[in-house]
Amino acid sequence: MRFFCCVCVGSAPFGGIVFASPLAPHTMRHLLLLFALAAFTAVEANRFRQEFPGPYCAQRKYDACCRDRQDGCALPISTTLCYCDEFCDRGEHGDCCPDYEEVCLGITAPANHTSCVHKNHYFTPYDPVVVDNCNTCKCNLDGSVTCTEDVCMVDDDLLRQLGHLQRSLGWSATNYTEWWGRKYDEGKVLRLGTFQPKIKVKAMKRISNKAGALPSRFDASEHWTGLITEARDQGWCGSSWAFSTATMASDRFAILSKGREMVQLAPQQMLACVRRQRGCSGGHLDSAWQYLRKYGMVNEECYPYIAAQNVCKVHEDDTLITANCELPVKVNRTQLYKMGPAYSLNNETDIMTEIKERGTVQALMRVYRDFFSYRGGIYRHSAAATPAEERSAYHSVRLIGWGEERVGYEIVKYWIAINSWGQWWGENGRFRILRGVNECEIESYVLASNPYVHEHVQAIRKVGDLQELILSTGFVQHPSRRYPPYGRG
Ligand SMILES: *[C@@H]1O[C@H](CO)[C@@H](O)[C@H](O)[C@H]1NC(C)=O
Ligand SMILES: *[C@@H]1O[C@H](CO)[C@@H](O)[C@H](O)[C@H]1NC(C)=O
Ligand SMILES: *[C@@H]1O[C@H](CO)[C@@H](O)[C@H](O)[C@H]1NC(C)=O
Ligand SMILES: *[C@@H]1O[C@H](CO)[C@@H](O)[C@H](O)[C@H]1NC(C)=O
Repeated sequence: MRFFCCVCVGSAPFGGIVFASPLAPHTMRHLLLLFALAAFTAVEANRFRQEFPGPYCAQRKYDACCRDRQDGCALPISTTLCYCDEFCDRGEHGDCCPDYEEVCLGITAPANHTSCVHKNHYFTPYDPVVVDNCNTCKCNLDGSVTCTEDVCMVDDDLLRQLGHLQRSLGWSATNYTEWWGRKYDEGKVLRLGTFQPKIKVKAMKRISNKAGALPSRFDASEHWTGLITEARDQGWCGSSWAFSTATMASDRFAILSKGREMVQLAPQQMLACVRRQRGCSGGHLDSAWQYLRKYGMVNEECYPYIAAQNVCKVHEDDTLITANCELPVKVNRTQLYKMGPAYSLNNETDIMTEIKERGTVQALMRVYRDFFSYRGGIYRHSAAATPAEERSAYHSVRLIGWGEERVGYEIVKYWIAINSWGQWWGENGRFRILRGVNECEIESYVLASNPYVHEHVQAIRKVGDLQELILSTGFVQHPSRRYPPYGRG
């Protein structure tokens, strides 16, 4: 029997094991047993190894390790002994030296396992980083946790604040899974993507509409049923500049042709072909309109959207035929779809008149972080989302109408807008925003343009009682009013 000489006085969770003066032999074997208990995790075993770094077995010059049981094959540890014989290795009853496995069995001690905790999640420096929304946290060797500190598109704090503010703000927020885990910087670049216009461009030709009687509510999609494109999804590509331009142009082709030219123009073509734009990192509206005016566009089926920039496959003098696009069935069109020069609208009533007379318009908009979480109601940006360091960014959307709503004693006027984040967002892809107060600068840069549609209608055949119509060639700028070239006015 081995001679033992110690007692376990106290055992704090880690390394609190204290060796005391000699005591009954079996107590000793029980002491080290503590270190080998089945419940002993690798983490704790490593603590033990760290606390008594030794060397022990490794310190024995000739025969570091002994066969069978040799009670002399021992070394002092703290105030007792540990063993380097095979007998010490008895699972939960073992009393081996801390470096026995390493020295005698050749098992390299597993790396240090410090344990860290982050929001109730336990991990070690050797585990993968822990993902916390858009940030990652790592466990340091000293047990501390270091996280990246990026602002996320949405976080629990923001959602909580918006929840409290809901009544006073007039709109509600929700926790979209699509945003969770994304950095705000990423959202600003890839979910928006319209640059603020240069001052020179801002001062372009402005149109004042003669203000007639305007209804208190108007929705282009009800007025021109089936002709207005509902929300599409730009994906994670900052192409709102291409989307708002292409969809507004499509709306106007459908409206002006009274449904004969129902076409979905291809934002992908703009993304790939418009020069001096930054593709999925954003673009300018004036260049987009210049392109549409000069070269024209093909339809979506011919140039499907892939949410990434690719090589431009439409050339300057292409027709729908040379660009390998299917020709429309209702009109005899072979030319690409071109728009007239863009013009900007002055103020609330000008914008309203334009929408009612000619269709949807494009609006530049400043986006604050809380906008991403909008679910429904009449949006106005909240203080919750505007600490100084969170720079806002610009986006472009379509305005398709307006309305007003009584909130308490107050009449709240709003615009109805269509976004390009898909129909899962907001009010089926739409949102309403305060009107008449330039909320988010939405009234400061509003553009419109008119399409070149076929003018002459010709009957080609009868289908039942319906006269199927085909439009002859000959592109006429419409309406006949001519606007000076973009940017010169
Ligand atoms: C283990 O931790 C100790 C101190 O905590 C340190 O000195 C040593 O370098 C670490 N070993 C490894 C392999 O990281
Ligand atoms: C929002 O959703 C994420 C997962 O999609 C979840 O982890 C988080 O706790 C949610 N936050 C709130 C405030 O609902
Ligand atoms: C369609 O237009 C082409 C020229 O663009 C013309 O040659 C052709 O006759 C037209 N067809 C019809 C049915 O109008
Ligand atoms: C908008 O501008 C037009 C002309 O620039 C002006 O006649 C009209 O009164 C303005 N409307 C408002 C609400 O300021």
